[in-house]
Amino acid sequence: MEREKITLTGAPETMLATLYGRALDSRRPNSVLNDVEAARAVSRIDYDFRKTRMKGTSAVGVAIRAKVLDDWTREFIAAYPSATVLHLACGLDTRAQRIAPPGTVRWVDLDLPDVVALRSRLIIPPGGDYRLVGASVTSGSWLDEVPADRPTVAVFEGLSMYLHKEDGKRLIERITGRFPTGQLLFDCYGSTGIKLQKLVPAVRNAGATLHWGLDDPREVEGWHPGLKCLDALRSVDMPGLEKLPLGGRLGLKVISKIPGLRDAGRILRYRF
Ligand SMILES: C[S@@+](CC[C@H](N)C(=O)[O-])C[C@H]1O[C@@H](n2cnc3c(N)ncnc32)[C@H](O)[C@@H]1O
Repeated sequence: MEREKITLTGAPETMLATLYGRALDSRRPNSVLNDVEAARAVSRIDYDFRKTRMKGTSAVGVAIRAKVLDDWTREFIAAYPSATVLHLACGLDTRAQRIAPPGTVRWVDLDLPDVVALRSRLIIPPGGDYRLVGASVTSGSWLDEVPADRPTVAVFEGLSMYLHKEDGKRLIERITGRFPTGQLLFDCYGSTGIKLQKLVPAVRNAGATLHWGLDDPREVEGWHPGLKCLDALRSVDMPGLEKLPLGGRLGLKVISKIPGLRDAGRILRYRF
């Protein structure tokens, strides 16, 4: 089978690093995610994945972060079985396949048009009420196409830091302003993480730039009446970190003692 050549650069290229992380995790005996679809997609891509520098600790770390967001999405769907799920900046992430929601759920995967074109050639879409949208989250028009009739969870992993704060704020205002009720699930960098971005191989190698650092999760609460932060998990406190290789566990122990560094990344859950 002809493998897909990659011509993406910048932020879109970074999705190959997270994909590869999930693929590597799936090959481990105590895999966090068992994302065999990620491994299948990697085998169909003509790209030097060594460039991503993903290995042991970083790969399992990506899988653990994804699992937290999967579990929060599952909890939302359990509470609202006919929810709408907006999976923004989906890249090549097969979150819908991992979660396998009931047919009553409306699921939207969205990323930039070039990424979506590649995705549609590589990933078999899940069944049910599913659509794949090629658009930027910074434009509002894609949102007008999503009916505003249901509780809605927006999950966006590895996106906020690539946005300028103003664009992130506008995205959150648009989502919270459109749907009757719902949740926002996303990860963020703190300002120290933004300052240290050149140390993140996936970002550096893709020539991407990170912009938005969020130090106080409560700041976002002011962007819509009734928006409330339910969880702000530091990356160093995520459940499942015991699955990291020993070196990674020791490294985290050190980082978790250093103010600034321990706040370099968080996973956030808000309700509105
Ligand atoms: C680090 S990757 C994360 C991909 C995926 N969520 C994952 O975890 O594998 C960043 C993703 O953000 C997407 N992205 C960046 N800016 C975007 C925008 N303005 N609108 C939609 N997607 C965007 C990129 O195309 C890329 O797929």
